[in-house]
Amino acid sequence: MQLTTSYPQLNTPVFAPDKSKINGDFTHKDILSLDQFTVEDLHTLFGLADEMKQLVLYHRPSSMLAGYVVSLLFFEPSSRTFASFASAVKRLGGETIEIQNPETVSSVSKGESFEDTMRTFEAYSDAIVLRHYRPGSAQVAADTASVPLLNAGDGNNEHPTQTLLDLYTIYKNFGRLDNLTCLLAGDPLNSRVIHSMMRGLSLFENNRVYLLSPEQLRLKRSDLFYWGERGINIVEIDHERDIPAYCDLWYWTRIQKERFASPQEYESVMKRGFIVTPELLHARAGKHTIVMDPLPRVSTVDPAVDADERAVYFREQIRNGLYIRMALLALVLGRA
Ligand code: NCD
Repeated sequence: MQLTTSYPQLNTPVFAPDKSKINGDFTHKDILSLDQFTVEDLHTLFGLADEMKQLVLYHRPSSMLAGYVVSLLFFEPSSRTFASFASAVKRLGGETIEIQNPETVSSVSKGESFEDTMRTFEAYSDAIVLRHYRPGSAQVAADTASVPLLNAGDGNNEHPTQTLLDLYTIYKNFGRLDNLTCLLAGDPLNSRVIHSMMRGLSLFENNRVYLLSPEQLRLKRSDLFYWGERGINIVEIDHERDIPAYCDLWYWTRIQKERFASPQEYESVMKRGFIVTPELLHARAGKHTIVMDPLPRVSTVDPAVDADERAVYFREQIRNGLYIRMALLALVLGRA
């Protein structure tokens, strides 16, 4: 199928896999893509996240990151990713430099280059957490800064720490990450969360993904073939009636307004958006289907669904983001 050319079609950068693979050693690694992880790496992270959860639940003081400073540089808005990284550092006894909107409050506003900004913050901190609207910016920052760079979302490319917390949530619910039937809905073309999730799911055997979206927001054809080659069984659908009755999870993403060329284009696609309602859950979900959303919720899930015990976005995903980011920081800074 031909995609409408007026939608953003940014190239997904290809990471040099060998150089960046974790392969059991997180220390001093940049975290840019889900492609860096093996199944064993994920389990190492999940095991430590379990411990971090206990630490948080019982308010155990930790000095794991005492003496460490982490810079949070967010060139795009964020609530959960920003606050959970900040909380993660502080829960482990470290300090943060927190800058949201560097383009208005830092020397970026005077015209400083992106690379010079990275060179500055590497001097003041032991790791940099970066969110940026440009796909591939995390790689550029990692190439520039000598301290570990954690990608907190780069344009429509990837959002690896979101997927790590999502995989952890799925694992905690089902005890496995293979043989899953998943429904990923919303904006496969532009959602960096879906792009990282596809990479994550492709690490495991026999996963089937139904992608529900308006036709204009389907995955790039090259991505569709790439992930198909990697073993995910992908089915594209554009109507709720085609949602299979036996999904393990529904993962809803918002249509990414900020990636559209004009408000009019966004509005026209929104007309055929999909929303999880109690009625849709009743009609098409299973008793054990979990409902996930990376949030913010913008025309994704009806608030009437929040009370349903299958809804895990508030109860589990947000909190798991804290535990996973604590674990990741401890591992990357060699303090686990
Ligand atoms: C996601 C993001 O920023 O990509 N949000 C998040 O980090 N929890 C999803 C989104 O904004 O749609």
